[in-house]
Amino acid sequence: MSAPIYRESLFTDQALAHPFGHYKSIRDLGPVVYLKKPKLPVLSRYEDVKNALRKSDVLLSGHGISLNLISNLIGRFGEKTAPNSDGAQHKRYRKQLMAPLMPAAIESLQPKFETMIAEQVRAQVSKGTFDAGGVLSSYLPLSVVSMLVGIPEQGRRNIMTWAVASFETVGPLKKGYFGHLKTMFQGRRFFHDLKPEELVAGGWAAQLYESIDQGVMTLHEAGQVILGLALPSLDTTILATNNLLVELARNPQEWQKMKADPALITSAVNEALRHGATLRWFTRKAVEDYRAGDVVLRKGQRVVIMYGSANRDERHFVSPDSFIADRNPRDHLALGHGAHACIGQHLAKMEMKALLKALVENVERIEMDEPTPFINSALFGYRKVPLRLFNHLP
Ligand code: HEM
Repeated sequence: MSAPIYRESLFTDQALAHPFGHYKSIRDLGPVVYLKKPKLPVLSRYEDVKNALRKSDVLLSGHGISLNLISNLIGRFGEKTAPNSDGAQHKRYRKQLMAPLMPAAIESLQPKFETMIAEQVRAQVSKGTFDAGGVLSSYLPLSVVSMLVGIPEQGRRNIMTWAVASFETVGPLKKGYFGHLKTMFQGRRFFHDLKPEELVAGGWAAQLYESIDQGVMTLHEAGQVILGLALPSLDTTILATNNLLVELARNPQEWQKMKADPALITSAVNEALRHGATLRWFTRKAVEDYRAGDVVLRKGQRVVIMYGSANRDERHFVSPDSFIADRNPRDHLALGHGAHACIGQHLAKMEMKALLKALVENVERIEMDEPTPFINSALFGYRKVPLRLFNHLP
């Protein structure tokens, strides 16, 4: 059966800032829908996205995961790391990346994170309006890059720019694409040119360089792994955390649930990840015919996997556009699923939980002015979140 076409663009600034109406229209059209430009089929419903992410032997990442030809050629023939590799090569990269990020490896960081972020929260209570994105949501993710990964100062200052540019190159070709590509390559060069003596002693990056001496990996591979630890860890977590703050401010009844029962912190973080729909999409290439619903995608076809839409699918989640702190949607797809599921998810959740704990313990009331959307071809969220925190009720 042929699939319907969705004629509106998902890539204008307006659509990127307000994507959820588009996502719903696409879901309602069918399990597989073609975008008009770029002319690609998309999977947007929860079950179809989850099934596709499970079929990593048929829907490959190694041919690139972007929506444009140039980035996909770079993904296929250029530098490899976990997100753009398959099979045995993917397992090898994944193993190297996962080692410092497993729950047991990061467990001891929790009390430290809680102390650090509680100080930040207390400093803002009753201080008037501040940008929570810059002051709270980015605080732990940036500290991790400097303290734990151990990247030198100059790189740290630029990582956000490199990361945003990398995510921009995932979208379709448009004005500014080549500028983003150039910035992305500047970042890659920085990581590959890193010298062991520039790294923070004892950090994850420095430890990786020791494994070069032991013959476990090459200098080049170590650069790739450090890049994999640093670049995808910042904006993703910051945007998901911003969404948590925005929704708590917009929904005082959900905030009151947290105050009444702090045991809901884990649930609220899962809900913020689901609702935040931070990663919009990546693509896969079918190396065999692949069926989704009543549509067969032919071998060689590239398909867009819409994580963000799947998390708002009313076929799976009741009232999906509402933030419900005690929903605990542990099966959300914000962190992917299957072979390529997010490697940094335990760290991201730990950072978000530490912030929420600090808020619950130190704040009674949250007020917010309208947040500013973050316009990016692959990530959704808010760039600036003007917040006020009070330790008393009105
Ligand atoms: C809330 C924050 C985060 C979100 C929403 C997020 C989202 C995702 C998603 C959806 C995927 C799957 C991609 C795919 O299917 O191809 C993924 C993979 C990945 N993430 Fe995250 N991520 C977050 C935080 C982090 C952090 C903190 C790190 C590193 C410290 C990280 C590192 C990675 C890596 C290396 C992969 C590739 C895994 C693979 O291909 O095997 N992420 N992430």
